[in-house]
Amino acid sequence: MKVSDIEAILGKCATPAYVFDLDALRERVGKIHAFLQQKNIDLVFAMKANPFLVRVIEPLAERFEVCSPGEFRICEREKLPVSRLVISGVNKEYKDIARIVSAYQGQGIYTIESLQQLQLLTKCAKESGFRLEALIRISSGNQFGVDFGQAKEILTNQKHYPGLHFRGIQYYSGTQKKIGRIEKEIQRLDQWIEELQAQGVCIEELEYGPGFYVPYFRSEQDEDLEELLEQFTGFVQQMHFQGKITLEMGRFLVADCGSFLTSIVERKETEGQIYGIVDGGIHHLNYYGQMMAMKLPYIQHISCHENIQCEQQVEEKWDICGSLCTVADVIVKQLPLLGAQVGDVLVFERVGAYSVMEGINLFLSRDLPCVLFYSRKEGVWVVRKTQSTDLLNSRTVMEL
Ligand SMILES: Cc1ncc(COP(=O)(O)O)c(C=O)c1O
Repeated sequence: MKVSDIEAILGKCATPAYVFDLDALRERVGKIHAFLQQKNIDLVFAMKANPFLVRVIEPLAERFEVCSPGEFRICEREKLPVSRLVISGVNKEYKDIARIVSAYQGQGIYTIESLQQLQLLTKCAKESGFRLEALIRISSGNQFGVDFGQAKEILTNQKHYPGLHFRGIQYYSGTQKKIGRIEKEIQRLDQWIEELQAQGVCIEELEYGPGFYVPYFRSEQDEDLEELLEQFTGFVQQMHFQGKITLEMGRFLVADCGSFLTSIVERKETEGQIYGIVDGGIHHLNYYGQMMAMKLPYIQHISCHENIQCEQQVEEKWDICGSLCTVADVIVKQLPLLGAQVGDVLVFERVGAYSVMEGINLFLSRDLPCVLFYSRKEGVWVVRKTQSTDLLNSRTVMEL
């Protein structure tokens, strides 16, 4: 975000705060969506990366991957059509699935992560009388999905599950992946699908989560969006599989649009090292791949002191630490700052994915930061107020 935009936001809202730049989000997702559409590839937003943004992304994504009853309730409040939700994840409970199936007349697409889930969906289909759309998740060697052999077994015996329509498979093997690994996965999936199709099994669709890499640190090569998409769609074009392909992504779509604003509240020097204590902390920020705060993320320094001459400012290396009572709360070490002072604001960029949700927010009973939306046309507005957490960390029922 531009410094002037951040200054305008700081004029209205206190730190710590997350800001999601909706113009940047629409521009990026719009570009990705348009590019993929030309190649007949649809977009699925894995909402776990940032549930605040589902409504804004809605015109640009074909579907939303939903991984918990809580995420489903968010989609209900945001009035997303259930027909466009992929109900995914482990621990699908009968009460939740039965409610969704009956309240929404069997709409939605359900992933099958285990043989138990296969039984659960079969039961819900039978009881409701609706035929349910299903994707079989193939495991990449962890607790998610079924293995290739089990998937083959299910697909070749489809007639035993008349209540389910098996659209195809879902595959996601992890995040922050380099393009070479993605190419190998695509080739392996293509080969497997081809073998099954040769045996007369119909696979209409592959929902693939590439886990594209987001460069978070200054030391990394920055992204070339078009080149990456060209490379990926090149792999897809070489596939024998001619069915529908959907690309399920989270981080890659939304990381870029988020900033975290935190103020320096204290400066101290201990044994020659400058420490800046900020009103945020590691419970608010999660840069995947950060190691002992040694890597430098993208950070802007907003000076809130007007009367300092540039030539009087000296660059100093700060260790930036948060407000938690733990030595682990070091966000970045040796951050070079020019003339920084207490009251200045640090803007941590590229935090639109996962940071808001993944932080250890209940530790120390500090308040949850507010969440702001921003656009050039509409300015800034609050979508979640600052919230205290002490009630969650204490007895609310007082009798023993
Ligand atoms: C099944 C599935 N799909 C997609 C994603 C999104 O991954 P990413 O944020 O790397 O795009 C995840 C993340 O955990 C996932 O579990």
